[in-house]
Amino acid sequence: MFLSALYYRYWECFVISIEFITTPLIWAFWIMLPAYVPNPVAALFGGGTPIDLGKTYSDGRRIFGDGKTWRGLVAGIASGIITGLVLIWAAGRFPAAGLPPHTLLSVILLATGALLGDLVKSFFKRRFNRERGSKWPVADQYDLVAGAFLLLLIGDPGWLFAVVTIPVLIVILIITPVLHRATNIIGYVFKVKEVPW
Ligand code: CTP
Ligand code: MG
Repeated sequence: MFLSALYYRYWECFVISIEFITTPLIWAFWIMLPAYVPNPVAALFGGGTPIDLGKTYSDGRRIFGDGKTWRGLVAGIASGIITGLVLIWAAGRFPAAGLPPHTLLSVILLATGALLGDLVKSFFKRRFNRERGSKWPVADQYDLVAGAFLLLLIGDPGWLFAVVTIPVLIVILIITPVLHRATNIIGYVFKVKEVPW
């Protein structure tokens, strides 16, 4: 009797500690999905006219480079917003799941911020004389987080601080580079991307 009670306690603790990890993990993924989708979709559908129209900056190098195109930008942002709309629909359909609520505004800011962050990163990458497609550790992985959070900070700070708690933020900072690397390797294997980073 006593032993089985102890055993039960043990499992209860185990379940609670698992939840302690899985809840922020699922939350982080759910929150960031509209910001994660635009990059791979831009890589899939990008091409054509570059955003900088081939123009160079005062330092003689390209403003953004051939890796940033209008088609990639528009397709990427649209795909992130559509992903977010699906999440909003799913949350309405299964309200008991207790997942953080997306709004039309949060979804637009996440998707747009992700690719604007990527664009700003490429601007500075060119200023530091790094070729298109070259590796730029840290910036390459976190540009989308910085861009998305900056737009949220300006456009919907109430949502940002209510939803992105410290544990969720920590998980986002851990899973983003992992997912970034994984999708880029997949993109490279399927020849969507020229380099596996
Ligand atoms: N892409 C695009 N338009 C965008 C973003 C990305 O067309 N706004 C496409 C390009 O074909 C690009 C690919 O997605 O080559 C991968 O994106 P990314 O790794 O961000 O670009 P890089 O080619 O590495 O260029 P950069 O060095 O400027 O980051
Ligand atoms: Mg790149």
